[in-house]
Amino acid sequence: MNWFFNMLRTSIGKKWMMALTGLGFVLFLCIHLIGNLTLYAGKDLFLSYVAHLHALDPLIRVAEIGLLFFAAVHVATGLTLFWQNWQARPVGYQMKKSGGGRTIGSRTMPYTGLVILGFVMVHLLQFHFIDHDPQAAVFQAMTDTFAFLPYIFFYTAAVIVVAVHISHGFWSLFQTLGANHPKYMPAIKGLGIIFSLLAAVGFGCIPVYVYVRFII
Ligand code: HEM
Repeated sequence: MNWFFNMLRTSIGKKWMMALTGLGFVLFLCIHLIGNLTLYAGKDLFLSYVAHLHALDPLIRVAEIGLLFFAAVHVATGLTLFWQNWQARPVGYQMKKSGGGRTIGSRTMPYTGLVILGFVMVHLLQFHFIDHDPQAAVFQAMTDTFAFLPYIFFYTAAVIVVAVHISHGFWSLFQTLGANHPKYMPAIKGLGIIFSLLAAVGFGCIPVYVYVRFII
């Protein structure tokens, strides 16, 4: 276990930790988005998706523990890198805000990350830490949540923040893992933008859709 903590002390080790855990979240978000998209096909398909998900229960528990571990490593390492960069920041002259190819996504990573952490906590309290028996309770939790208009704005704003975070995190993780060849990078950056747009539109429209289709 010592090698693990020694590696975490180096900045390249920290970047790798951010990249690997970030990749785990990208995979999780793909699966989560596909599952949630069943809502657009109606309540029955969504309930069947929830039932199939819960039928995988022992596996789901392992995945949840994995996600929690990834989240702890990602947040702790991200905060450490942020603190180290802040301490090493150049003082005495103004840096051009968009200099060096910096984007909104790259400049706001620590802040969007913290907003996502707050969002996920609220989200888990509303949809995960509930009594899932009967399984229709998950659907009920969703309609109860989105019947309250401020939550529609909260969820839509949160997924836009998620999209901004991914717009930088996606290509950055591939760069850290070594895929920074000039030939492939434009394609990876394009894929990152497509994925963040899909996440923003796919997740972001769900609260409005639930409200229009199942509440009013
Ligand atoms: C409007 C968008 C979203 C909706 C409607 C939604 C819906 C849900 C539902 C229904 C569950 C419970 C699944 C179950 O236990 O059966 C869930 C769990 C979860 N969601 Fe979301 N979600 C959304 C966006 C997100 C986003 C953007 C993230 C991450 C940044 C996220 C992270 C999670 C996590 C970590 C869980 C716990 C996984 C588990 O139950 O094992 N969700 N979500």
